[in-house]
Amino acid sequence: MTRGKFVSLEGIDGAGKSTHLNAIAEWIRERGQAVLVTREPGGTPLGESLRQLLLHQSMHPDTEALIMFAARREHVMQVIAPALQQGTWVVSDRFTDASFAYQGGGRGVDVVHLNYLAAWVEGGIRPDMTLLFDLEPEEAHRRVLRGTPHPDRFEKEQATFFRKVRAAYLDRARAEPARFCLLDSSHAPEAIFKQAQQALERLWA
Ligand code: TYD
Repeated sequence: MTRGKFVSLEGIDGAGKSTHLNAIAEWIRERGQAVLVTREPGGTPLGESLRQLLLHQSMHPDTEALIMFAARREHVMQVIAPALQQGTWVVSDRFTDASFAYQGGGRGVDVVHLNYLAAWVEGGIRPDMTLLFDLEPEEAHRRVLRGTPHPDRFEKEQATFFRKVRAAYLDRARAEPARFCLLDSSHAPEAIFKQAQQALERLWA
């Protein structure tokens, strides 16, 4: 049985990954693969409970990082690894890069801790491709305000926070250009989707 491929979608809040998530999964399905769509924080019953805490309960940044990774460990062990093992492709709305961007870049959690947690929690399960939806924080914030009547703890953050999150994402993309596909979210959705498809084609090569 060939192992499935693992695709993650990343970007600051409002950058548009949710717009494309299901269409991307559907497009992969049309190409003959079984696809599981999931998300972080979440993806398991425990992970969804932890998501509620993470999005609505204030806490120390280190605690936030630890809970993100606890939810991720459950997700990897219960959902992602078994699916990939069975040959199912996994499309996840966020994965470890989000912790480096939000907890590391945004909140200033020491990257030494994040590297340690990532190595432990991932246990070798890493995305084959990461689509990074990139958008200028002011525009992303306008889009969040338009689309979200009740913003969560992260969505309520100011542009300075999202500038740091975005910079951390872009640093990670620069460090691993083979894994990342950078998508300019200021373009029309059709153009972005086409660019994503072209990048994903490489997974069959
Ligand atoms: P998000 O994908 O934005 O959910 P929705 O589109 O439903 O609002 O994810 C929720 C938030 O969690 C988002 O603001 C980013 C944050 N987050 C982290 O801070 N660290 C992480 O490791 C992950 C996975 C998410």
